[in-house]
Formats: sequence, structure tokens, C-alpha cells
Amino acid sequence: MKLVLLPFPDQRLFAASMATSLEASVGRLDWRHFPDGESLVTVEDKLAGYEVAIIATLRNPDSISLAMRFAAATAREFGARSVGLVAPYLAYMRQDKRFNPGEAISAPLFAQFLEQSFDWLVTADPHLHRNPNLADLYRIPVRRVVAAPAVAGWIETNVRDAILIGPDVESEQWVSDIARRARVPYQVLNKTRRGDRNVTVSMPTLDVYRQRTPVIIDDIVSSGHTLVETVHNIKQLGFGRIICVVIHPVFAEGALEQIVGAGAGQVVSSDSITHPTNGFSIAGLLASAVDELLTSTLAGKK
Ligand code: R5P
Repeated sequence: MKLVLLPFPDQRLFAASMATSLEASVGRLDWRHFPDGESLVTVEDKLAGYEVAIIATLRNPDSISLAMRFAAATAREFGARSVGLVAPYLAYMRQDKRFNPGEAISAPLFAQFLEQSFDWLVTADPHLHRNPNLADLYRIPVRRVVAAPAVAGWIETNVRDAILIGPDVESEQWVSDIARRARVPYQVLNKTRRGDRNVTVSMPTLDVYRQRTPVIIDDIVSSGHTLVETVHNIKQLGFGRIICVVIHPVFAEGALEQIVGAGAGQVVSSDSITHPTNGFSIAGLLASAVDELLTSTLAGKK
């Protein structure tokens, strides 16, 4: 299999890490804007006979989506045999139902949008809630990488006395997995969200974990309010050092500062989105998934 990775500018380092374990080359993908805001995408033009993987994280999905489609179509024009998408962070997964009358259900709409450009998709810990399977949302071959081994590795190395805290019931799926791998206990809280920035989190006493270091784990941090509320409540219980580990550091403006202001001593994230808090990499996990997906699809299996 001849594979070329075409990373968007922010994912060049990530792609370089993936390439070492994939025996793939990394090709050019430049993206710039004209003064009027239109995108110009420039890609490697020697792609005849290659499988192509475009690497784009969807931190700003509305901004990058059109450029991704231009890149995929241009790669095909230059002879790519197939064009897949590696999205370390996949956006539009949380709006998986109509919460209020008239709202668009974005998750399946965005899936259809991507399917029009890409032959396959690999992503890490997509926010699967009411749709438990990514393959039920996408009709192209997909692989869902679990970041838990990387998160657990970081915890085992850095916080051996951790008590993991999941801020809401949805988080149990990854917090329980990480706790098992890192061989530490965990506790899941109940969250009530009343608005984008209006969140309350119920708190047990955590008395039996008094000698441990609370490590709050969340898949996505957006406004930061889930973590702010959770950190604040744990602080009230008298815990000193509180650590937050985030899989997808979306961090809307001011989010990190508010989390630190609430009392988090350390905030660490995966490199699914390039951010100063990045503390561990999931590039190798995504590379393995790409390898497995391409090997099985080229062999004719989905
Ligand atoms: C929600 O279900 C997710 O797991 C995250 O807890 C949520 O997206 C975090 O959002 P925010 O940072 O805006 O509170």
C-alpha cells in the first residue's frame, strides 16, 4: 500500500508522528485565505496510485470544512486512488437530537457532508451519546480510536494516587476504561446543563478518597463550564491539588483561564487539537487505526 498523508498546517507535527509508524510519506497541503476570506488550498500533485489521508482536526469546523472538500477533490484530480479523512477531533457530534423545536440535528447532517468528499474516516473518541456507534451515523468505513491507553499511560506515570472523576454519566464510558487501565478508582458525577454556559454538577463527599489526588477526565472541554463547576466543587471539599485531563482541548476563549481560576493545579490534554496544554499524543493510536482500516478495505472487507 502506498500512502500519503496530507496534513492541514496545524496538523503537520501530528502527521509526522503518524507517518513514522505507518511508513507513509507526508505531502504538501497549504491553506491560505484571500483578502475577501475565500480559501485557497494547494496540495501535492504527484498522487497517482496513492491512497491519501487528509489530516484535519475539526476545532473550527465551519471554517475548515470547505477547504477540506477542496483538498479531497483536488487530490482525486491528481490521481489519488482513495481519499480518507483523519480527524483527531470530530466536530458536530453533540447535536445528536432536536433539543428545541426547529433545530437542525447536526450530527447526521455533518456525516452526510463528509461522506460526499471522503472514502473513509478515522477519529478519536467522538462524542457518542444517543448514537452509540459511529458506523450507524456514517455510511463510509469508519474507525473510532479510543484515547484511553494514552490517557491511562499519562496518569500511571504522573499521578499514581489518582481518583478519577467523570463529571457526568456520559463520561462513565471512558472514565471507567481509563481507571481500569491505570488501576485507580473512579467516581462519576451527575451534571445538569441549563444552557451553553450554565452547568451544575452534583458532588458526593469523596471522603474515602481523601488521600488521593482528584483527576477530572472529560472528553471535550468547550466553554469550560463543566470543568469549572467540577473543580470548584472538589475544591470546596478541601482537596488541595486538582488535575484535569482532557481528550479534546477545544477550549473556547477564556475557558482555560476560568478552569485554572476555579482551582485546577494542572490541565493536560491530548494532541487531538494543538494546544499549549498538550501532554500526551494519540498520533500512534490513529496511525494503527488507519493501517488496519486501509488493510481491510483494500482486502475488500469493510
Ligand atoms: C458533554 O456531554 C461533554 O462530555 C463535555 O462535558 C462537554 O461538552 C463540555 O462542555 P463545556 O466545556 O462547554 O462545559
